This record gives sequence, structure tokens and C-alpha cells, in this order.
Amino acid sequence: MSHAEDHEGTRRDFLYYATAGAGVVATGAAVWPLVNQMNPSADVQALSSILVDISDVDVGTQLTVKYLGKPVFIRHRTQEEIDAAKAVPIDELIDTTSENPNKPGTDASDGNRVIGDREEWLVMIGVCTHLGCVPIGEGSGDFGGWFCPCHGSHYDTAGRIRKGPAPQNLHIPVASFSDDTMIKLG
Ligand code: FES
Repeated sequence: MSHAEDHEGTRRDFLYYATAGAGVVATGAAVWPLVNQMNPSADVQALSSILVDISDVDVGTQLTVKYLGKPVFIRHRTQEEIDAAKAVPIDELIDTTSENPNKPGTDASDGNRVIGDREEWLVMIGVCTHLGCVPIGEGSGDFGGWFCPCHGSHYDTAGRIRKGPAPQNLHIPVASFSDDTMIKLG
């Protein structure tokens, strides 16, 4: 992948920005211009929770939102992605523990990484667990999920580390559905 393609792919990932004060996000309203602008700012950090409208997030696409200074990936998974994740035996995983704070005490099986029982929606903190780069989505890497180009970590369609130096699955933030089309982060 050339640098230009890489950059373009990253740009497509960033479709959102939280409006300070409102805490409600309209999808598709703006393209995040540069990754290096994704630094914590006081107004965003002050929001302990935000609502994200996911009604425009098509199957097979990812919305990236900024929450508490970090990118959060909201992936609307295809059935193929779900099936691929479910087909992986738990003992093949590098990290079998779940970091899902919404389902404490469970392992990293696919069903334990989604919000509630809506397995098409995967919400994860978009920070590589190696040294903190933002992985590329859109079915990237050897396992069709996310790929971190910094040192070559491959995550599967459930955001679980499968190959490379990252030690843990992509982390999952506190999240829930506030209604059918709104995800609450925090
Ligand atoms: S920071 Fe992602 S592989 Fe090193």
C-alpha cells in the first residue's frame, strides 16, 4: 500500500467530530481532516459521555468517533465478518481474556465483544495495544479486521490480536445502546 493510499484510507475512517456541549453526533457531517489533529482537547474531555447516531453507518463500514481524546471505532459488521469471528476457536487467540467492561468476567469470544446481543455492532477503542498507533480498518490485515502498520499487528473481525507484537485485543469502551440508532459511549 502506498503512502497516499494509506493516508486516504485513514481519512475515510474519520467521519465524525463531537460537538462540544451538545454531546450528540451527526454522522457523515464532516470529514476529519488530519489524524494529527486528534489530540485531547479540554472541551471534549469534559464530556463524560456522548451519544453517537449510527443510523447512517452502512453494513461493512466503520464510523470513527473521538471520545475522551481517543478514536473509537464503531463497526457495522457484515455477516461474513461475524461468521469469521465466531468460527475462531478461543484457544487460537493470543489474548483470550475480554476487556469488555460491559460484560465483565467473560472471555474474548466474539459474542462477548459486541454490545448486548446486537452482534453486527462492534465498538472498540482504536488504539493499537502495542505502542498506541491507530490501526487501519476496512477489512485490513491478514484476518480481515484491522491492521496496525507501525509494527505489523493484525486484528481479526472482532478486533482480537491474531498476529504481530500487540499483546492484547483492541480495548472496548463503556458503551450501550440508548435506543435502536444511538450508541452511548461512557
Ligand atoms: S503500535 Fe501497533 S504494532 Fe506497534
